[in-house]
Amino acid sequence: MIGGKLLHGGDYNPEQWLEYPEILEEDIRLMKEAHVNCVTLGVFSWAVLEPEEGTYNFGWMEEIIDRLGAEGIQVVLATPSGAMPHWLTAKYPEVMQVQPDGTKNLPGKRHNFCYTSPVMRAKTRALDHELSARMGRKENVILWHISNELGGNFGDSSCHCEQCQESFRGWLKERYGTLDALNHAYWGRFWSHAYSGWDQIHSPAPHGEWTMTGLTLDWRRFVTEQMRSFCRMEIETVRRNSALPVTTNFMEFFKGLDYQKMRDDLDVISWDSYPFWHERKDEVPTAVLAAANHNVMRSLKKKPFLLMESVPSAVNWRKHNPVKRPGMHMLSSMQAVAHGSDSVQYFQWRKGRGAYEKFHGAVLGHKNGSGTRTFREVSEVGARLEGVSELLDGTVNMPKAAIIFDWENWWAVEDTTGPRLDTDYVASVVSHYRAFWEAGIDTDIIGMEDSLEGYRLVAAPLNYMYREGYAERVRSFVGNGGIYVTTCFSGMVGESDLCFIGRHPLEDVLGIIQEEIDAPGEEFTNSFSYGGKEYPVGELREVIRAKEGTDIHAVYREDYVAGLPVVTEHRFGEGAAWYLAADTGRCFLKDFYRDRFREAGMNNSLDIELPYGVTVAERSADDGRRIVFVMNFKGEPVKLEGIGRWTDAETGESYEGTLDLEGFSCLLLRGNAEID
Ligand code: GLA
Ligand code: ZN
Repeated sequence: MIGGKLLHGGDYNPEQWLEYPEILEEDIRLMKEAHVNCVTLGVFSWAVLEPEEGTYNFGWMEEIIDRLGAEGIQVVLATPSGAMPHWLTAKYPEVMQVQPDGTKNLPGKRHNFCYTSPVMRAKTRALDHELSARMGRKENVILWHISNELGGNFGDSSCHCEQCQESFRGWLKERYGTLDALNHAYWGRFWSHAYSGWDQIHSPAPHGEWTMTGLTLDWRRFVTEQMRSFCRMEIETVRRNSALPVTTNFMEFFKGLDYQKMRDDLDVISWDSYPFWHERKDEVPTAVLAAANHNVMRSLKKKPFLLMESVPSAVNWRKHNPVKRPGMHMLSSMQAVAHGSDSVQYFQWRKGRGAYEKFHGAVLGHKNGSGTRTFREVSEVGARLEGVSELLDGTVNMPKAAIIFDWENWWAVEDTTGPRLDTDYVASVVSHYRAFWEAGIDTDIIGMEDSLEGYRLVAAPLNYMYREGYAERVRSFVGNGGIYVTTCFSGMVGESDLCFIGRHPLEDVLGIIQEEIDAPGEEFTNSFSYGGKEYPVGELREVIRAKEGTDIHAVYREDYVAGLPVVTEHRFGEGAAWYLAADTGRCFLKDFYRDRFREAGMNNSLDIELPYGVTVAERSADDGRRIVFVMNFKGEPVKLEGIGRWTDAETGESYEGTLDLEGFSCLLLRGNAEID
């Protein structure tokens, strides 16, 4: 926890209000009222900080930082590369990003710079240097926020300009050494696609080469590397003047950049969370997706992260934008903390008067000052975070289960052609995660390069591409007693999308032989029974054979595959490997994992079966502190039965046997063992 307290506050963009001194006065007074202890400054301030090339204007910012400091409010300081000033793009058009089809972007918007461009780098470096020299040692500045949502240019984050093409070719030369090696990796003889000169290589494009997954994968890897090097350039620049930790704000399941690579450059992981609450009456799918995202972020460094942005009311960028219903702001904020966030921060403090985000929710609206429900609910969150800061200081989530979610696999499984063209890796991972969430079993969500040590159960849905060393890690995980669950379309290819030939790399562990994969239309229904119940299979079905010694727990009931295995278990070493040969629905996954949790000796912190809509998460510390967050995502009250003795960590009230939860609410409990 930075400075031993949970941060509460968020993006503050006072440069919008420099002509309104009374607003700036009021801001600081209301921040105190809302229990704001930290704001993020400078995210899009380039044009105000450097109104002309090489002319700096830091006075306004310094004054605001000092005034905040006098009120005990800390500052996360952003480098302003997220949006470029017009003088820059007018004088140096090469800083503009080029789209895959070759169109050069026009100035405007944001996040649309070429990260390779030497001019962009030089101009960013110069401003970062001045900014960090002037502000980087101020007492209340606590963290660097590098740029903003790197790559977040409404979709594709990559630049296809000539500078980028040249760098890509250089990157490929380094990776492969020879064209022969590259052509082999891409299986280039097929369709006469082998390159005979490096300069023939061009980034994947809709009007050019998009059919070679090996090339597409390398392009995606290269884009991450270029963005990393841009980000590292900024980090190195500010570090020269300041010893503060650095972060950059990540986004929800963002496919454009491999965050599992970028984590190494950052001290703290932070991300911007905008769940679609009230999309439907049933909030569970949204809660599950938000929780999965939090777990991805936490698992990047296996440490608490920061919720850098969230909205206190409604966003403005979806087709319809419901305002958070009473209680939801508190619940979603506490959910982030429950899953490992050490902050609740917002975009933004005050709604702008004009431009793109004037109707995006903020702590303060255009009217009524602090006299709004949003302001009251924000203040309540602030007060609550203040109250639990000490309790949570030093606590972390320590799950015993992990789900594999790997960026490179994401790219590969969705870029490749077949067996379906609408493969949705995130949906598949989240559908497995949902079974854990509903049971209240906390999980890490990790990449294929991460260690599996310390987990009892690892689930790896749609694990199509096996990264270097992954099969070995799984083999020793299962050999040492772990329970491993994987699904159809796993272990198909290596890192350049070349299929494994001969056998599945984990055939010995899984105890199955993959024969073929069927992806029929929806009329071709099929089903299987497991544990006495019948379940439908989805539209991805593998035909597999069980090897000797493999137990078959379920078989297809219909069609030409009737009698062939759907669910298998193979004991290997001290552990067991499960294979789900078909795409299976939520009801099955819930029942299936309930059995695996029992086998792994895992239950949720309350040790009860949770009613629909309720989940728990736990943060604990080495000193024996255990804080259990009990969250009700239903809009109505729910009664939990069969709980042991617990004490409300905030009010001291004790509960035994039953616990009443209000609609959209979260309670923090402490175990009796610790209290007694
Ligand atoms: C992102 C950006 C913010 C703001 C919000 C709006 O998270 O970082 O600047 O645009 O979206 O939801
Ligand atoms: Zn470029």
